[in-house]
Amino acid sequence: MSGRFITLEGGEGAGKSSNLEWLAEQLRAAGKTVLLTREPGGTPLAESIREVLLAPGAETMADDTELLLVFAARAQHLAEKIRPALARGEWVLCDRFVDATWAYQGAGRGLDQSAIAALEKLVVADHQPHMTILFDVPVEVGMARAGKRAALDRIEQEDQAFFERIRHCYLERASEQPERFRVLDAAQPLEQVRGQLEPLIEEMLSWP
Ligand code: TMP
Repeated sequence: MSGRFITLEGGEGAGKSSNLEWLAEQLRAAGKTVLLTREPGGTPLAESIREVLLAPGAETMADDTELLLVFAARAQHLAEKIRPALARGEWVLCDRFVDATWAYQGAGRGLDQSAIAALEKLVVADHQPHMTILFDVPVEVGMARAGKRAALDRIEQEDQAFFERIRHCYLERASEQPERFRVLDAAQPLEQVRGQLEPLIEEMLSWP
């Protein structure tokens, strides 16, 4: 028996996290067993790697270190949590996955695409999401929302151009892979974003 793998993506302050629990509730109400998780993180070890990745430290993190750490966390998450849940037939809802690496480390940091592709092949293999919901929001709007939260983490401290590259990369991937991506206008108020999610839930529930 094999479950379903759904990922939520977007820039900073796009509102993924505010909608994740709600989405899970809708699927549970329809009788699905749902596992909520996030990247980087999702297991104790992967959460420790997340802390290393996001803590603003005195030592500058090399870009390749960042890339290897996100994939190290992902390897652990897949092995310990995602693959077993899918094998049990559960629905895994994950806040970010490998598209975030293409966007942040690929477009944001400008890292070599062939290195990312090789790590993706090694770590993710055929565990690509069945659906990826992209919460698209203009960078200024997202940054204003993120700025109202707690202190900015190491990655959130990057400049606007970094986040513009990320947004562009996500939108490009969505247009290249329309069968997997669904794009939401996440600049709208929460209620309207939920209205945009409803047809996607219907679509998921119609899956064979
Ligand atoms: P979050 O803000 O959605 O919790 O994500 C944590 C941060 O980690 C966010 O700034 C994006 C970043 N990130 C990467 O840079 N690469 C990745 O592959 C993932 C999953 C997240």
